[in-house]
Amino acid sequence: MIYTLHVNGEWHRVDDDGQTPLLWVLRDALRLTGTKYGCGKAQCGACTVHLDGRPVRSCSVALADAAGAQIGTIEAVGGAEADAVTEAWVARGVPQCGFCQSGQVMSAVALLRSNPAPTDQDIDLAMSGNLCRCATYPRIRAGIHDAAAALGASRS
Ligand code: FES
Ligand code: FES
Repeated sequence: MIYTLHVNGEWHRVDDDGQTPLLWVLRDALRLTGTKYGCGKAQCGACTVHLDGRPVRSCSVALADAAGAQIGTIEAVGGAEADAVTEAWVARGVPQCGFCQSGQVMSAVALLRSNPAPTDQDIDLAMSGNLCRCATYPRIRAGIHDAAAALGASRS
């Protein structure tokens, strides 16, 4: 069956089974390989994308359920929050192996868009679904605080 997906501001027609995970459509059909496969069971967060602005695990979203929604991936994430997170990630040297980091960034950006001044508790809660085998958690938390501070400074 043919589904119409709106990904990173562009429409795509995808001919596939409606139960195919969105992750496979993004990676295999649309060649957006920045979104990673980790567990395939909504347990690790490596596959996090934005669906109508919410962070979701694309390994566990069916193609049929994503049709018509606004889908955003790491390749095109933008705006003040994404810029602030990117700068903080570079300044802090957040990534180690990097495998989990596209998912981490997508969750961090979604957090800052909904909560511009998160506490440690807010950060830990929002990022709890994003695992990192390299244990970069302290730098992720510090990076989000840095990004929030930069966003606050740019608004004042
Ligand atoms: S690959 Fe989707 S949550 Fe792990
Ligand atoms: S940086 Fe290696 S898994 Fe997170």
